[in-house]
Amino acid sequence: MLAFLQGAESISYGFAEQDRALIGEAARELSRGAGDPLGASIRAKAPEGFVSLSRGLRSDFGELAALSETAEFSDLQLRFSTTMGRCVACHGTYRSDGSAP
Ligand code: HEC
Repeated sequence: MLAFLQGAESISYGFAEQDRALIGEAARELSRGAGDPLGASIRAKAPEGFVSLSRGLRSDFGELAALSETAEFSDLQLRFSTTMGRCVACHGTYRSDGSAP
């Protein structure tokens, strides 16, 4: 999970430096499952909404990586912001210990 935060840090630094390679590399790593909150055993027990947020997060990072080479920075930034909305959605909805978020 910490990898998500580190990846997000790298991506926002990439925006500040207008460094497409850095954005692409960090987003690609996250799309491949670095920081995946779901191990296989948890995946089997997790609620459907949780699993789909997790999957959606990875596919969003994959799209960001694919677009990083060509898209306008403003479009990339908008996508990144929408992607980060999934972090907020999941953290605001689910807790690993069953307490309210
Ligand atoms: C599918 C659900 C889900 C998504 C999406 C998600 N997280 Fe998490 N995250 C969790 C869960 C579950 C925990 C464990 C703590 C808890 O119960 O809240 C956690 C914990 C964390 C922690 C605490 C540190 C740690 O290593 O445990 C950080 C930091 C974090 N998430 C960052 C992020 C960031 C950044 C994103 C988006 C890029 C993100 N998360 C997306 C479910 C998610």
